[in-house]
Amino acid sequence: EKGGWSSFMRKEVAEQPDAVANTIRGRIVDGEVRIPELESFGDDELRGVRRITVVACGTASYAGQVAKYAIEQWARVPVEIELSHEFRYREPVIDDGTLVLSISQSGETMDTLMAVKYAREQGARTISICNTQGATIPRESDAVVYTHAGPEVAVASTKAFVAQITALYLFGLHLARVRGTLAPEVLAEALAELQAIPAKLQTALGQSERVAELAHWMADTRSVLFLGRHVGYPIAMEGALKLKELAYIHAEGFAAGELKHGPIALIEPGQPVFVVVPSPRGSANLHSKVVSNIQEIRARGARVIAIAEDGDAAVLPYADEVIRIPLAAPLFEPLLAVVPLQVFAMELSQAKGLDVDQPRNLAKSVTVE
Ligand code: F6R
Repeated sequence: EKGGWSSFMRKEVAEQPDAVANTIRGRIVDGEVRIPELESFGDDELRGVRRITVVACGTASYAGQVAKYAIEQWARVPVEIELSHEFRYREPVIDDGTLVLSISQSGETMDTLMAVKYAREQGARTISICNTQGATIPRESDAVVYTHAGPEVAVASTKAFVAQITALYLFGLHLARVRGTLAPEVLAEALAELQAIPAKLQTALGQSERVAELAHWMADTRSVLFLGRHVGYPIAMEGALKLKELAYIHAEGFAAGELKHGPIALIEPGQPVFVVVPSPRGSANLHSKVVSNIQEIRARGARVIAIAEDGDAAVLPYADEVIRIPLAAPLFEPLLAVVPLQVFAMELSQAKGLDVDQPRNLAKSVTVE
C-alpha cells in the first residue's frame, strides 16, 4: 500500500496537493461555492448564526484555529476554538445562534464525539468536517462536509490537515456569500487563491531535500521553538506538535508577539527557533514586527530558521537558514508554511532511527475519553 514510499507519512506528505485538489473538486461551480451536503442548513439559518464554536483535538484543532482568522474576516461571525475535552466539562454557553463545528480526520475521536453529542443535547446545530466516510461523528451531526484527502494511515496527521483547512475555507466563503459580507470580486479572488494551492504545495514540497539536510544536522537537538503570528501562530503550534510526536523532542509553539511576555527568557546561544514569517505583501506592520522578533532572538544567540515567502529579503540578514514558500494571499500561507515543518519532523524522526508511521504511545484514532 505504501507504493514504493519508505513510509506512509512520506507518501501522505507528498499527496497533499491532491488532498487539497480533491477537497475542492466539484465545490466551486461558476465562481461560486457549492456545498450540497449543507442543504439541510438553509440560507436563512446560516444568516442567523451568531457564533461558531469549533470542537476538535490536536492537529484538527489547529486547522480550526487557522480557519478562525479566515471565517471571521470573511463572514464576520465570531469563531471560538475549544478543545473537545475542555468544552464538555465547563458549561459552555450554547444558544440558538450557536453553530458547533467539529473537525476530525477519523470521525471517531471519543472526546470530539462526546462534545458533539453534548452540543446537540443543549440544542445546538452541528456540522462535522470529517475525512472518513460514514464515521460516527458525522452520523451524530446535522450535516457533514467531507474532506477528500483519502485514507490517512500514518499516525501523524498531514494531508488531512491541509484538507481540513481547505474545507473550512470553502465553508467560510459559502457563509460569507450567504451573509453578503464579501464583495463578489473579493470572494472570487479568494476562490482563485484556493484553487491555486495544489500547484503551490507541489512547489513547497520542492524544498524537502534542503529541509531534510537541516534535520539531519539537527538530529541531536534537545529542544526546538516555533514562532508565528496571525495564521502563522497555529502553524507554529502544529510544527511543535509534529516534532514532539515524531521525534520525541521537546518543542513549543508561541505567538511571536508573546515572546517579550515570557518565552524570550528561554533563548540561549544555539537554541533553534523556527519562525513562520508573514508575507510583507500582507500587513507590512505584521511582517516588520516578526522581523524585529527575529532580530531580538538572534541577538540572544538563537539559531533562526525562517519560513518566508519567495523574494522576502528582509529576513536574510538575521536568519541562519531561510526555507522558501511560494507567494500566496496571507490567509492561504498556512497551507504552504506547514509543509517544511512536517518534513522537518519526519526527517528528524528518521535521522534518529524512529518509526515515523507509528510513534510510541500514540494511536491513529483515540477512541477513549
Ligand atoms: C497529530 C494527530 C492528532 C490528531 C487528533 C485528532 O498529528 O494526528 O493530534 O489530529 O488526535 O484526531 P481526529 O482528527 O481523528 O479527530
